[in-house]
Amino acid sequence: MKNLIQTLVEIPSPSGYEAQIREVIRSVVTPLADEVTTDPLGNLIARKSAQASPQGLKIMLSAHIDEIGLMVTHIDDNGFVRFTNLGGVRPHTCIGGRVRFLNGRIGVISMEPLDDPAKVPTFDKLYIDLGCSSRQSCPVKVGDVAAFERPFTDLGDRLISKAMDDRIGAAVLIEAMRQFDASPHQLYCVFSTQEEVGLRGATTAAYAVNPDLALAIDVTGTGDTPRPANLRMEVSLGKGPAIKVRDGGMLSDPRVVNWMVRTAEKANIPYQLEILEGGTTDARAMQLARAGVPAGCLSIPTRYIHSPSEMVDFGDVQYAVRLLVELMSHPVDLE
Ligand code: CO
Ligand code: ZN
Repeated sequence: MKNLIQTLVEIPSPSGYEAQIREVIRSVVTPLADEVTTDPLGNLIARKSAQASPQGLKIMLSAHIDEIGLMVTHIDDNGFVRFTNLGGVRPHTCIGGRVRFLNGRIGVISMEPLDDPAKVPTFDKLYIDLGCSSRQSCPVKVGDVAAFERPFTDLGDRLISKAMDDRIGAAVLIEAMRQFDASPHQLYCVFSTQEEVGLRGATTAAYAVNPDLALAIDVTGTGDTPRPANLRMEVSLGKGPAIKVRDGGMLSDPRVVNWMVRTAEKANIPYQLEILEGGTTDARAMQLARAGVPAGCLSIPTRYIHSPSEMVDFGDVQYAVRLLVELMSHPVDLE
């Protein structure tokens, strides 16, 4: 599974520009699905329903395949590139880092001298240097997009990448698809686009699929680092996948939470309960689709989300696959 994770995380596919990652995932999931389609927003929808029975539901599972990135706004006469953010990028995680444009060109991010060095600079102080000396010779143009450039790193139990959010969710969903054969449900495995700019892909996919039940698979923050931003965040790396109770954009359906907890306990899978005060996932868009859908989220605890070095625990990842397979393998009883 580590090979699959490495393949997925190293592909640059910022929000709205997911073609490359979509084609890689299409080739991996086509043999695992009964039908694979793409919709106008670029969502990849893989249906698996060979064993669907009358007790089964239509279930939408969503993992987003876009990542945060940058977009060129201006190039000066000396070839220095100014940019804006695509999704939740913060300036202090950019400085000294590198980016890769979709045409393969690499640039380094640096900054103008600060008036007050004690203050974190704003985006207008930052620029990208692509090693060119004029606007004419600059290999990118206004509107071009880039993703952060960092190699995948395997520390053994812990894995690091610039795009765990949410390629790790895509990897969990793909691994689970390999084991969905006996599912009584019609499963719509959606690899969604444009999550980082406002859950846009999942919004249209959920309308089209019109599910009876929906789960997102995405990352969540942890409270286990020195002086965490939220001292009361209970989630830690290495204590199992998290079952979302609420986040900044949704309250999970309590019946869905209870079903997930019961299933984990029955199968002896460690889990944590998640309350995330900021941020949200595709689950929000699915919950609010059409007349409303019972929805929840299976979260992979992740440190340093939206930095170029997002860290997960491989044990949590493997338990997330097991829990997802377990959840999809039996009739669902919401109570
Ligand atoms: Co994100
Ligand atoms: Zn995410």
